[in-house]
Amino acid sequence: MDLGMDMWKYFGITHADHAVMDPLSLEKTEELVGLLQLPDGGLVLDVACGKAEFLCLVAEAYNVKATGIDLSPYTIEAARKNVEIRGLADRIELLHADGGKYEPNAPESLDLASCIGASWVYQNHRGTLEALTKMTRPGGLVLVGEPFWMTDPAPEYLKLTGHDPNLCASHAENVTIGEDVGLALLYTQVANPDDWDRYEGLQWQAAERYATDHPDDPDVEALLRSTRKSRDAYLRWGRNCLGWAMYLFRKP
Ligand SMILES: C[S@@+](CC[C@H](N)C(=O)[O-])C[C@H]1O[C@@H](n2cnc3c(N)ncnc32)[C@H](O)[C@@H]1O
Repeated sequence: MDLGMDMWKYFGITHADHAVMDPLSLEKTEELVGLLQLPDGGLVLDVACGKAEFLCLVAEAYNVKATGIDLSPYTIEAARKNVEIRGLADRIELLHADGGKYEPNAPESLDLASCIGASWVYQNHRGTLEALTKMTRPGGLVLVGEPFWMTDPAPEYLKLTGHDPNLCASHAENVTIGEDVGLALLYTQVANPDDWDRYEGLQWQAAERYATDHPDDPDVEALLRSTRKSRDAYLRWGRNCLGWAMYLFRKP
């Protein structure tokens, strides 16, 4: 979708009120973190870490050292504030960089490698799983957040959003792709319609509020045009055809 304004600014405004910037609720994210059972002193990497909420929850639950990478100047700033406020700056390192170019100090060294809601960083879901698997130690965890088609998307929906029909696979195929890469599935955590409505609705509210508060910003017209278009696509089709899940795998 052509946003007609700076992409990072657009996402910074529309995700101003999100703690986690993906459709899974904070409560379900916390539940998932509780399942990880990470070892003391473990190493964690989260590519496209957003506001580092996931990493903060992980570091609060386990005595680990973590690295988060995000390419957005707005988001990495929010992540730094989050980590600082939570008193976790000594255990969470944040990098403003392209996740696709990052290499850990040693291959197969991580206890958990994750990429939640940004599989384009490694081309697609399979590429993401392959890249994270290379960084993870045998027995370590690979976690990805990825959309899936619940039903075949309507052509009108694809036209309005500009989505490719191959944007994602089905829920079952997302798991099979992980198994093809050599991973063992441990768990999936799926967003329900309430979770999705919150994720989408917070964006509409934040955009409308920004427009009211910044009437002289020349980007306001593009901001409202894009958020309203995306809202219509979600309400008419996306809500019924697009799913979202976290996929937790273990590297044998
Ligand atoms: C849907 S958000 C998910 C954020 C976070 N993982 C979460 O679930 O809260 C996608 C994130 O990917 C980041 N991003 C996009 N392209 C990136 C890249 N090439 N490298 C690192 N981060 C990137 C965006 O800035 C944004 O924070």
